[in-house]
Amino acid sequence: MNLAIDCERLNSEIQALGQISEAEPPVVTRIVFAPADLRARAWVISKCKEAGLDVRQDAVGNTFARWNGSDANAPAVGTGSHIDAIPNAGKYDGVVGVLGGLEAIRALQRSGFQPKRSIELLIFTSEEPTRFGVGCLGSRLLSGALSAESAEKLRDSNNESLEKIRREAGFEGRLQDVKLAAGYYHAFVELHIEQGPLLEREKIPLGIVERIAAPASARVVLEGAGGHAGGVLMPDRKDALCAAAELVLEVERAARSTGAMDTVATVGICEVFPGAVNSIPSRVRLSLDVRDTDLARRDGVMDEIARATEAISKKRQVAVQTELLNSDAPADCATQVVEALADSCRKHKLNFLPMVSRAYHDSLFISRIAPTGMFFIPCRKGYSHRPDEYASPEDIARGALILAETLAKLAG
Ligand code: GLV
Ligand code: MN
Ligand code: MN
Repeated sequence: MNLAIDCERLNSEIQALGQISEAEPPVVTRIVFAPADLRARAWVISKCKEAGLDVRQDAVGNTFARWNGSDANAPAVGTGSHIDAIPNAGKYDGVVGVLGGLEAIRALQRSGFQPKRSIELLIFTSEEPTRFGVGCLGSRLLSGALSAESAEKLRDSNNESLEKIRREAGFEGRLQDVKLAAGYYHAFVELHIEQGPLLEREKIPLGIVERIAAPASARVVLEGAGGHAGGVLMPDRKDALCAAAELVLEVERAARSTGAMDTVATVGICEVFPGAVNSIPSRVRLSLDVRDTDLARRDGVMDEIARATEAISKKRQVAVQTELLNSDAPADCATQVVEALADSCRKHKLNFLPMVSRAYHDSLFISRIAPTGMFFIPCRKGYSHRPDEYASPEDIARGALILAETLAKLAG
């Protein structure tokens, strides 16, 4: 098989998709079902159709682009990632797995390879949690990790339901039907940028993921008492932001206290009400995101944060309500996929690093229904979720090549 990745075309497609953004490029913002996300979907679908793939979309907008294999009844081999992007993001997160997956399929087509199993590119809906508060929305539904009933209750910050928004975006049908049948995929493999600094630092071109961390997230609302910034004396205050400030530092302390590199915790949202310079904050909403590759350790951190919350609430007489949004288990990548990736690397004499993924990915959920693997390419300084995120065309093409070979091996 003579496989050749069209590096120039793949990179120019990544740059072109980066132009479809709610924010001024090079900043990429594509919130799920907002106009830029819908335009980006249409653009990617047109590229898939140009490649002769059969495209279908499910009720939540997960998009499947299939290269039919000679055995129509055999479970397919899947690859893919996401194209939605958090506010103020870059061009590569998710996109490398989608457009790299498409180019891997085109390279296999050009080589004359005929798959026995169908090879399917999957573009997941809302890997990012921005709009509905929960990440991996599409893959949670595909795997059954999220029920249709729970999904129907999801609302965005304008209190609009997922049900209404997805229908307005043109996705009809029942959310109950999104879940994939058992055995739908023979195997699944996702290519992604590392989103961390290790590959670049070690000068290693590829990372093969063995375990994906367990994320938990919550919404925390602190309710104190507002009032005049001049009139209310300091001993009488129940300042919700001061309580929130203590809590944010407790979150950091709890994560650091494990001493493990794999424990991370972040408060990324802090909304202050009423938000006036001369008004004491009466209400604060915080987001909480805690991750670890070890479930018990992650839950230990969550427990510690809960204890700290209670103590701060009592001390400051500020009521605190915590709503747990998700609390997921880690995933082990499937040996069969890890081995197929490693074989390709060895064939090309490419050094690779066995890694964990501290970021979550749709593969976390697909691994519950199919043997799943992931691999990483380096990204500059480990930057991700920021506009200067960058992966070199050569590293991306190398990833697409390893992906193509791995898909070919798995598809037979
Ligand atoms: C995915 O974007 C994550 O937050 O890990
Ligand atoms: Mn992301
Ligand atoms: Mn991603």
